[in-house]
Amino acid sequence: MKTTRAHPVPDPGSHLLELKHVVKHFDISGGLLDQLRFESGRLTRQRTTVKAVNDVSFAIAPGETFSVVGESGCGKSTLARTTIGIYPPNHGQILYREERIDNKSAQAMLPFRRRMQMIFQDPYASLNPRKTVRQTLEEPVVFHNPAISTDQVEARVAEVMSQVGVDPKWVGRYPHEFSGGQRQRISIARA
Ligand SMILES: Nc1ncnc2c1ncn2[C@@H]1O[C@H](COP(=O)(O)OP(=O)(O)OP(=O)(O)O)[C@@H](O)[C@H]1O
Ligand SMILES: [Mg+2]
Repeated sequence: MKTTRAHPVPDPGSHLLELKHVVKHFDISGGLLDQLRFESGRLTRQRTTVKAVNDVSFAIAPGETFSVVGESGCGKSTLARTTIGIYPPNHGQILYREERIDNKSAQAMLPFRRRMQMIFQDPYASLNPRKTVRQTLEEPVVFHNPAISTDQVEARVAEVMSQVGVDPKWVGRYPHEFSGGQRQRISIARA
């Protein structure tokens, strides 16, 4: 896995996101019976782990675009998922604006979830086919602003649609009624 950046390494203290020696291994041993092996006349128990992310460190400054590049299966998606807290890391630290977020409870993570969003690889799989664009885009707005009025929600949904270049008059359409590129932009609007 290779990491590339558009600017020199940012000064410490100005980091938006920093990863220090992050490790994520998956235990794929299965149940106890799957783990048992018969070797040299003895029954032994073996655990199998996938070392998806092994000791990754980097820092990103505000406004910087940072890419992680590597062959299929080298751990890029696992790294992204671990960074935003979908998986807990086995080792290492993840800091958002100098504050550790890898050891926070789900409740304590809520303010950070508003600020860190994932745009998924396949928008057709990540958009709910039974929900209109309006329903899909309203959900995060209301979740993060429980006191917001109906008019404000509608205005915010129209605003994000315009920002990503999808006409707000299509707000009542379903994902299959858009092109692949438009669906990708709706995913970005949701994020
Ligand atoms: N939940 C999981 N449980 C067990 N192993 C997993 C899990 N998720 C990913 N892996 C394994 O971890 C390794 C890294 O997978 P990952 O999805 O991070 O790769 P990737 O770099 O995103 O690949 P691609 O470019 O194909 O999307 C792979 O060997 C994969 O099989
Ligand atoms: Mg991937």
